[in-house]
Amino acid sequence: MAIAEAREKSRELWDRMAPGWLKHNDYMWSVSRLVGEWLVEHLDPQPGQTILDIAAGPGNTGFVAARLVGDEGRLISTDFAQEMVAVARDSAQTLGITNAEFKVMDAEAMDLPDDHVDGVICRWGFMLMLDPAAALRETRRVLRPGGKLAFSVWGGPAENPWVTLMGMVLTQRGMPPQNDPFGPGGMFSMSEHDPVRELVTGAGYEKVEIENMPVAWTFKDFDQIWAFTTELAGAIATLIADMPAEEIADLRSEYQAACESYRSDEGYSFPGMTVNVLAQ
Ligand SMILES: C[S@@+](CC[C@H](N)C(=O)[O-])C[C@H]1O[C@@H](n2cnc3c(N)ncnc32)[C@H](O)[C@@H]1O
Repeated sequence: MAIAEAREKSRELWDRMAPGWLKHNDYMWSVSRLVGEWLVEHLDPQPGQTILDIAAGPGNTGFVAARLVGDEGRLISTDFAQEMVAVARDSAQTLGITNAEFKVMDAEAMDLPDDHVDGVICRWGFMLMLDPAAALRETRRVLRPGGKLAFSVWGGPAENPWVTLMGMVLTQRGMPPQNDPFGPGGMFSMSEHDPVRELVTGAGYEKVEIENMPVAWTFKDFDQIWAFTTELAGAIATLIADMPAEEIADLRSEYQAACESYRSDEGYSFPGMTVNVLAQ
């Protein structure tokens, strides 16, 4: 598939996911906030600064930064899926965040002037982009001299059964993933430290720190796992949505059985590993 076509498909997919991300926004943030807070803490936004959040989805990580830059500062919250931008805008209103602007923007070709922002955040966005090198160069271009970039991408498949387990069940049913998870735009395309370091320095950054961080995906029951998988989980969610109802029912039972080994007294808990990066 040509890059432009793949990018358009990805944008459509994320527009389709936006209602699920709105519905499960509180759950997602409760499970993932430590990662967002790591990024903001390492970016260290100061009052009066302008911070750019790219591939912001529902916007929560950027909102942490918005509070720190204060009324004199500004958050520019962006995503290439306009439905996601709408979720972020509404959510900011609910949270009473008034120093943020919202923009539909492809991170690989930013509609922003050079030297425009003091810091850039991107949580779980770069590895989904078809040309992350271009997006990283764009972050360098829009950052003022001395500005920092903090981002997070997913670690490898062995460390992230919360996503690979459904892939295994689908493969057993003769439906292996259509896209290479290690190829451009794949979930694990930026899971290794050395290639990530190369990409980041190749984009013009001089100092790069990389740190793995565990993320535990906890669910109170299997219904919640199923909602997560079918309403939030990007490509897997749309694949399931397009299946005939009987096949979905069979898949659900097989997946429930596969999840048994992650059952705990409180419900279910799946380990996960994210790779956090700070670049200057
Ligand atoms: C896994 S979600 C993460 C959302 C949010 N950053 C968070 O951590 O909750 C990935 C987001 O990346 C966005 N995205 C993917 N490719 C993009 C691109 N090239 N430019 C801008 N946004 C992109 C999607 O629309 C989606 O909202």
